[in-house]
Amino acid sequence: MDKKGTIALGIETSCDETSVGIVVNGKKVLANVISSQIDIHKEYGGVVPEIASRKHLENINWVLEEALTEAGVSLEDIDVVGVTRGPGLIGALLIGVTTAKTIAFALDKPLVGVQHIQGHLAANYIEHEKLKPPFVGLIVSGGHTNLVVVEDYLKIREIGGTRDDAIGEAYDKVARVLELGYPGGPKIDKLAKEGNEEAIHFKRVLMEKNNLDFSFSGTKTGVINYLNNQKQKGCDFLEGNILGDAGQPISKADVAASFQRAILDVVIEKSFSALKLEKLNKLVVCGGVAANSRLRELLKEKGTKENVEIYYPSPILCTDNGAMIGAAAYYAYREGKTDNLDMDANASLKMKCY
Ligand code: KG4
Ligand code: ZN
Repeated sequence: MDKKGTIALGIETSCDETSVGIVVNGKKVLANVISSQIDIHKEYGGVVPEIASRKHLENINWVLEEALTEAGVSLEDIDVVGVTRGPGLIGALLIGVTTAKTIAFALDKPLVGVQHIQGHLAANYIEHEKLKPPFVGLIVSGGHTNLVVVEDYLKIREIGGTRDDAIGEAYDKVARVLELGYPGGPKIDKLAKEGNEEAIHFKRVLMEKNNLDFSFSGTKTGVINYLNNQKQKGCDFLEGNILGDAGQPISKADVAASFQRAILDVVIEKSFSALKLEKLNKLVVCGGVAANSRLRELLKEKGTKENVEIYYPSPILCTDNGAMIGAAAYYAYREGKTDNLDMDANASLKMKCY
């Protein structure tokens, strides 16, 4: 092919998506093939690690071939091989890492092990041509809730994390008790549109002033306890006799909306505290929950009011995908930060700060 830049191959297998992306100069996506295992895991109400690893193994070769075909490139054209090294499910990560190392070894290509959260952040560089550090990053996904300061492409400082459940995990667990199915985030997002956010006041855990850590398990337990109490009183959604704060009958949509508003209030409050503390006016949101429509609305409202620019990727780049890993690998590669073939998967890999 006629080469017009650095071509990065990105492999993602940290959880339940097998994905390979091909990206030029960290911006132009030539292919981003994603094979989701959601339909398999939803039967169990969550990701089953052993099944995830087996499915990655079955899928990785055809996903890779399809990405190369779609991009119109061959493996020889690739300049750098990027792969999610961690955090994630160890068996799942190993499939991607082994694939990447095999390509790097067989074709003598540079290899970059990407930290998954840094991959999510890089999804925003793909879609926002002018976006450059410094900014505050908010990572909201099934496995993570973090606030970071991105001082430069490879210089990231963590300023807040979750003390218990990740936000997506809280969404998924509440969706389960509401019998909405898996994954719960998109289901709650949709149902909440029909509900009243003020029907029930669920706990907002903010912690002490200037503390940027999150805790969602109290809010999640609040919802579960609330529903159990109602059940013990013989109340049921179907009977229309579950009551809200003002003694009014409420629906599942009201519970979903009230829960969602409680956790989003915390996320927004802490993100804007972070911007103030760091004296920055750009907030970059990423991860599966960044696709949430109410989060986007509330951030837009507050951003306009407080003169803060808000960025997030389109939904397909919010969820786990290979293109974001390819983009992150590109920024490391251009600074000469590559890995040796002894690089290994690491289930609890911390953010890499060069
Ligand atoms: O980033 P991601 O695909 O995987 C991880 O790295 O964890 O995030 C998946 C999470 C799930 O918990 C899912 O319920 C949540 O993102 N999610 C949403 C929405 N779409 C996906 N949560 C709220 N609203 C959405 N629209
Ligand atoms: Zn993710």
